[in-house]
Amino acid sequence: MAKKEVVEEERSAPPEIANVPQHVAIIMDGNGRWAAERGKPRTEGHRAGAESVRACAEACGDLGIRYLTLYAFSSENWKRPKTEITALMTLLERFLKSQTKEMLKNNIRLQAIGRITDLPVKSQKSLHDSIEATADNDGLNLILALNYGGREEIIDGVRSVLRHIQDGLLDEAMLDPQIFSKHLYTRYYPDPDLLIRTSGEMRISNFLLWQISYSEIVISEKFWPDFKREDFFQAVQEYSRRQRRFGGL
Ligand code: IPE
Ligand code: IPE
Ligand code: MG
Repeated sequence: MAKKEVVEEERSAPPEIANVPQHVAIIMDGNGRWAAERGKPRTEGHRAGAESVRACAEACGDLGIRYLTLYAFSSENWKRPKTEITALMTLLERFLKSQTKEMLKNNIRLQAIGRITDLPVKSQKSLHDSIEATADNDGLNLILALNYGGREEIIDGVRSVLRHIQDGLLDEAMLDPQIFSKHLYTRYYPDPDLLIRTSGEMRISNFLLWQISYSEIVISEKFWPDFKREDFFQAVQEYSRRQRRFGGL
């Protein structure tokens, strides 16, 4: 109890930001390198990264950001050693179990995108439990991208469009980007305004391919476990200084 109060007192006031994004998406990268730098196993990096998730979700809530999408496990991450995959899934389950109370306290609504039914059954269960428990919250929407691939999402979207056409629910001639968006996992969310990638990598790695057409991109040199509240604020401030044109003038 006393410890918790100290932590809350230390929380810095959010900065005044002229132009707060509605939706921030993050490619949380560099856990393995963070661990390697410390001579620790990669899983320690993933464990430490969970604290950055908490810190960034809190910072988002404090700025009044409505959506935070986090790339937690890609369609391609199945290529990693089985032990690392198991550790990641176990960490996910632990994170959900330990953070659901915190999410309820902070009015966070948890959601997930990706091919969720291909995740281990235990992970799916923890996910569904947290999603259900936080369903009535109306603050920040925290969206975890799990077993997520942008190409896979577009293919699933095409399948959904074809089904709708076959069932006579959609006229092929009407199909446009706006309608197609409604067949993606992200149909309930606006496109990300700001995309952050940590660890200095300059690539998208199959994340939200359709949705980031006009997102502002901020790359942080920090590894994800070192990316905290102030780093998040800095990225949002950088976003706020950008001029978005969407192809216009
Ligand atoms: C990001 O960190 C977490 C996941 C992809 C699950 P990495 O595990 O990719 O760490 P690096 O990039 O190898 O340092
Ligand atoms: C992207 O990071 C996926 C996640 C953050 C979940 P990766 O570390 O898997 O990406 P690459 O392999 O460096 O492109
Ligand atoms: Mg990586």
